Amino acid sequence: MQSAARNSTEWFEEVERYLNLDPVQFNYSLLTRSQRISHENLRLRDPAWLRGAEDWFAAQAGGAPGHMPMFAPFQLRDMTLKNRIVVSPMAQYKAVEGCPTDWHFVHYAERAKGGAGLVYTEMTCVSADGRITLGCPGLYAPEHEAAWRRLIDFAHVETDAKICCQIGHAGRKGSTQLGWEKMDAPLKTGNWPLRSASAIAWSNQNATPKAMDRLDMDQVRDQFVAATEMAARAGFDMIELHAAHGYLISSFISPVSNIRKDNYGGSLENRMRYPLEVFAAMRAVWPAERPMAVRISANDWLGDEGVTPDDAVAIARMFSAAGVDVIDVSAGQTSTDARPVYGRMFQTPFSDRIRNEAGIKTMAVGNIFEPDHVNSILMAGRADLVCLARPHLADPYWTLHAATQLRDKAVRWPLPYLAGADQAQRLAERAAEAVRA
Ligand SMILES: Cc1cc2nc3c(=O)[nH]c(=O)nc-3n(C[C@H](O)[C@H](O)[C@H](O)COP(=O)(O)O)c2cc1C
Repeated sequence: MQSAARNSTEWFEEVERYLNLDPVQFNYSLLTRSQRISHENLRLRDPAWLRGAEDWFAAQAGGAPGHMPMFAPFQLRDMTLKNRIVVSPMAQYKAVEGCPTDWHFVHYAERAKGGAGLVYTEMTCVSADGRITLGCPGLYAPEHEAAWRRLIDFAHVETDAKICCQIGHAGRKGSTQLGWEKMDAPLKTGNWPLRSASAIAWSNQNATPKAMDRLDMDQVRDQFVAATEMAARAGFDMIELHAAHGYLISSFISPVSNIRKDNYGGSLENRMRYPLEVFAAMRAVWPAERPMAVRISANDWLGDEGVTPDDAVAIARMFSAAGVDVIDVSAGQTSTDARPVYGRMFQTPFSDRIRNEAGIKTMAVGNIFEPDHVNSILMAGRADLVCLARPHLADPYWTLHAATQLRDKAVRWPLPYLAGADQAQRLAERAAEAVRA
């Protein structure tokens, strides 16, 4: 109740943010401002109005009428996504010496078959010592490029999903144990030296990183460029610079991990200088027709001590001016002192602010798990794309199943699975009839 009231109050306080929306979307945003009234709930109240709003959404996206907002296409540079569902990056900890394995082939191939418009790789590291764990994949050796190429070729030949590589460097959160061991804790043996914006350890268990000097900064920037070139050759449709969650690039942006006294520390402009340098160098070698995203932590969850949602709008504006096509709006994981406020769609308000205050395309992520959430976020203009992480671990075919549940035939199942689709759709129809009766 308190969360709904807070969302609603903020909507009215910040109504100027929404004045540029089309009247259809403005009405939808007003009606759903608390995040408690969902898309399907609106359908119960006024089905004809909602159908009109859905058709408006489809028309402005260049899609066909009669479909749910989540199935509207989306264009970024020359890349057209068939729908708005994104498989969010998720570390698998299954790489061997940075090389993706059969695990990755099967895992990503299944998600590409699962109906999402865009499938992200996990954080793919620019160097061996830029890895988070020994199980993290990379793009720093010819065999890595070949393994990714095999996987992307399959996705392109057999599915119409687009594939995005998330490229990053672990910084002070590197040299740690696998996700299912002790998360963020250093290796028991064989730790490698760490580098970060400043010499501040992630926690009192982790080693103190070296504060990067200009030589380190040049070397790591060049590693990002080399990884970008490999990603282009491997055939990725899109890349993302990972500038969130306390890893290297994020460590420059957040004042809790950056206490530098040079031009790269202090004001937000200074703290953004190195991330923007790296982004510009990557953008220069990434093909002009292919899009680039940046993932940011829009809130350090430390009040005014860290990055605030206000700062996030400024950060997004700076990246957008440098040529970022879409901001992937995550939050947190930048400090062990953070006090996040969790809840359904808890990070979506940060995406909403960036999209509607700065006029920049965004992806929302974080505890979004029902098709109804996705349709609400898109229809209200809170994001352009919606990332789901854990739901895609539980169900690689999340999008196909959502379409079945919503009885929307917008999504094509893989041809060998048509008999399964047919049965699933008939069962869903029968279940809906039983509810009506
Ligand atoms: C197992 C696992 C691994 C993850 N690995 C990454 C990663 O490599 N890069 C990243 O930016 N986020 C990573 N995340 C965060 C997710 O992309 C996502 O932001 C977060 O899980 C919230 O979304 P959800 O509520 O849909 O799971 C990971 C999450 C999980 C559960």
